This record gives sequence, structure tokens and C-alpha cells, in this order.
Amino acid sequence: MKISFEIKSSRKAGACVVFAAEGGGLEESAAAWDKKNGGAVKRAIAAAGFEGKKGKILAIPGLAGVSASYLLVAGLGKAAAGDAAASGLATGLLLNSYRFDKYLTREPKEKKPTLKSVEVVVKAAAAARKKFDASRKLADAVFLTRDLVSEAPNVLYPESFAKIIRRELAPLGITVKVLGRKEIVKLGMGALASVGQGSAQEEKLVTMHYKGGSKNQKNIAFVGKGVTFDTGGISLKPGANMGDMKWDMAGAGAVVGLMKALAGRRAKVNVVGVVALAENMPSGTASRPGDIVKTMSGQTVEILNTDAEGRLILCDALWYCQEKFKPTQIIDLATLTGAIITALGHEYGGLFANAEPLAKHLLGAGKETGEELWHMPLNDAWDKDIDSPAADMKNIGSGTAGSAIGAHFLRRFIQPGVAWAHLDIAGVAWSNKDRTSVPKGASAFGVRLLDRYVAEYCEK
Ligand code: BES
Ligand code: MN
Ligand code: ZN
Repeated sequence: MKISFEIKSSRKAGACVVFAAEGGGLEESAAAWDKKNGGAVKRAIAAAGFEGKKGKILAIPGLAGVSASYLLVAGLGKAAAGDAAASGLATGLLLNSYRFDKYLTREPKEKKPTLKSVEVVVKAAAAARKKFDASRKLADAVFLTRDLVSEAPNVLYPESFAKIIRRELAPLGITVKVLGRKEIVKLGMGALASVGQGSAQEEKLVTMHYKGGSKNQKNIAFVGKGVTFDTGGISLKPGANMGDMKWDMAGAGAVVGLMKALAGRRAKVNVVGVVALAENMPSGTASRPGDIVKTMSGQTVEILNTDAEGRLILCDALWYCQEKFKPTQIIDLATLTGAIITALGHEYGGLFANAEPLAKHLLGAGKETGEELWHMPLNDAWDKDIDSPAADMKNIGSGTAGSAIGAHFLRRFIQPGVAWAHLDIAGVAWSNKDRTSVPKGASAFGVRLLDRYVAEYCEK
């Protein structure tokens, strides 16, 4: 969607946005149209009971003197129509315009979106244009994540995913490294390897290093779960809605989008992104419930449920990340548990953290971006629950507090002194309805949240 900002409308775009404050008069261009149309704008406003309340938009079609098919009157509430209002509205329109329609070859024309360009009329047009440039870059990153998360699992598998990461991020000055099965096994990542071993597709571990900070500035790290399809493995999932498990790589997708966003705006930080990519399949070579594997950390894991695979790929990714990049803090994102949906539905991502300030900052960034988190507890009783008589730990607990069990499993792979947060995004990675700034489908949850978090708390 093309979005432009003008002091006075050029009347060429598909829609034209003007602002109206609560109880205030009409903006200049709108007043001119009102006059030209014999008071039609004011009549439409009165008929709709439009009061200029914040967030309300009135669409008036078919005015003379507007080549735009719609005049959109946007309510401001008590605020003034400044650059921030204008750029914020445009960002919302842009984020809402996303569609994943590359496979809709027979879609009738009347179902395709017709609105291709929007003109926002505001006095502070130049400043709004500048503000919006930054938002447009961020939206590009969000769209990359949405494309990845929406993609079909026969098209997006570990190898093709890794290729896209290289293609998208290397040109931005990010160092992309891809490890394949041979290296993964050689490095001792037995847990990650066990998840990939049932699939014809080789698992991959991809690292992305962006150095926007000073030489001696320490790395911060983001680690993502990238299960490109989760059948459950031998602990096979039921058939209903299994197609949803194509987006079991949304954590990895968000990390990739975030890296694009940070490099795109030349953020002044040293950041490493690590994604573990695997396909969880049942087959003659798949891992079995009862298998015991050795992780890169040296700790052994008894796999009692092959469907609890996210923690298995993440534990090796987390360890590798710490060994190789020595980050001061790690934030992981994963569609880890169905239980987090039971707890928080689709309104909040679950946040687990071993450091209070980190948790507080993430909660704040979540509120500001509308990608909200809810702080969940850690408790040593849950840590005990994953002790196994046969290995250092098992990959499931006794059946309750499923999301916390997943978090405690991951915590066993965090080295002393590292601040860590785990975001369980199983409930928010995909939206079954249209929401503010998120059309139905892949949300790219985490990209805007973490971009804001980095800008506010790490770029100092
Ligand atoms: N990918 C799933 C979690 C999930 C469920 C994400 C629904 C999105 C929607 C994960 O790998 C999984 O299967 N978790 C199991 C864990 C259990 C076996 C301990 C679950 O939640 O049932
Ligand atoms: Mn699973
Ligand atoms: Zn999964």
C-alpha cells in the first residue's frame, strides 16, 4: 500500500484521510469538499453520530472534488493532529493491509483489496513523512515474519528457511552462518539432532550476527523455535487442526524479522539471533519415547514425549548461543505449549524470566506496542518435576503447569550470570480474527515488541 502525507490533498490517491478533533471543526481540505458538495461531509458526520472520538474512523464515499473513492475522517479525541497522529494512523493502515495471497490463483477481482494508495492530509506532513519512514521499515520486517509464518510447510522447511534468512539478512550487513546435521552432531547437540532425525529434511541451526554497537559492547541474544512442521513425532498429534503446526516456527520467524528491523534502522547494539530449525516427523528413523540423548551442555535428557520437541531444539540452541557469543542476556521465543493458550488465551504471550528488570522492561515494551505479555511464575517445585530416574532430566513433567515445566526445562540450559526471558507465544503467533494492526493469520508477535525493547533499554 502506498501512503503519502500532504499539507493539502492532491486528491489523487484511492483514499484521503483527514483528522477531526472531538467537538472541533473540519480540516481545511475537508471543509472545501464539504462546501463543494453542498454540506455533504457535515451531513454524513451528523448522520453517523461521529463525534471525533479517538480511534473512530468515518468513511464517506463518492464526494465530488475528491478523486479518492473515500474520504476518511479520523477522530483524534482531545489530541491535536500532529505528525505522530498522522504517522501512527498510517502505520496501522499499513500493518492491517497485509495479506498472504500468493497461492490464490482464482480469487475473483471483487475479493481483491481495491485500496492501493492513501493520502494523509495534515499540516505537519514533512515531519509525519519522516516518522513514517521508520515505521515503514519496521512494517517490512513484520511482513517478512508474516510471510515466513504463513508459508506452507512443504515450501518452508529447514533448508529453504535457512536460504531465505541468508537472502534477506546478509545484504543488511548481518553475518549469517548455517550449521547442518553433520556439524550439529559433531558439536554434540544430541537433543536438536533427535528432533530432526525422523524427517527427510535435515535440521539446521542458523546464527545471525549484527554488530551495530561499539567493539567492546557485549552481545544480546534472541533465540527462536523453528519447527517448520510439528506432527508430534511418534507421540503423534490428533489430526484435527494439525495444519496449524506449520506455524510452529513463529518464534524463529520473529527472530528473523527482528534482526531485519534492527539492521534496517542501524540500531546501535550488538545482537545475535539464533534459530533452531527442524521438522518433527514420525518415521522409522524418528526418536522414540524412552530415548535418552546427550545435549551440547553435557546434560542428558530422557525423551518421554516426542511432541515436547520445542524444548529439545531450544536447549541446544541456547547452549550454543552462550558458548559462542557470550551474551549478557537471552530472550527466547517459542510456540512451546498448548497450555499457555489454556492460561492466557490469545490476548497475552507468556513471559518467564530469571531477572526482574528484564521482565519489567519486556512487559512495558509489550504494553506500548500492543503485543502484550503476562508475567508467569517460576518455582523450584516445577524444576524438581522434570527430574528423571534414568537421565539428568525428562522432557515432560507430571501433567500440570505445562507452560512452566517447559520454561524450567529451558532454564536448566542458562549459564550463571545470564539474564534470561522465555516468551511462550503459542497463543498469539496466529490470530483467528482481525485485530488492531493484525489481520487474521500470522501476527509476527514479538517483532514490534522486541524492536521497541531494544530501542528503549539496550541502545544506551
Ligand atoms: N507446538 C506445540 C505447542 C502448540 C500447541 C503450539 C498448539 C501452538 C498451538 C508443542 O510442540 C507441543 O506439542 N507441546 C505439547 C507439550 C506436551 C507434550 C508436554 C503440548 O502443548 O501439548
Ligand atoms: Mn510438539
Ligand atoms: Zn511444537
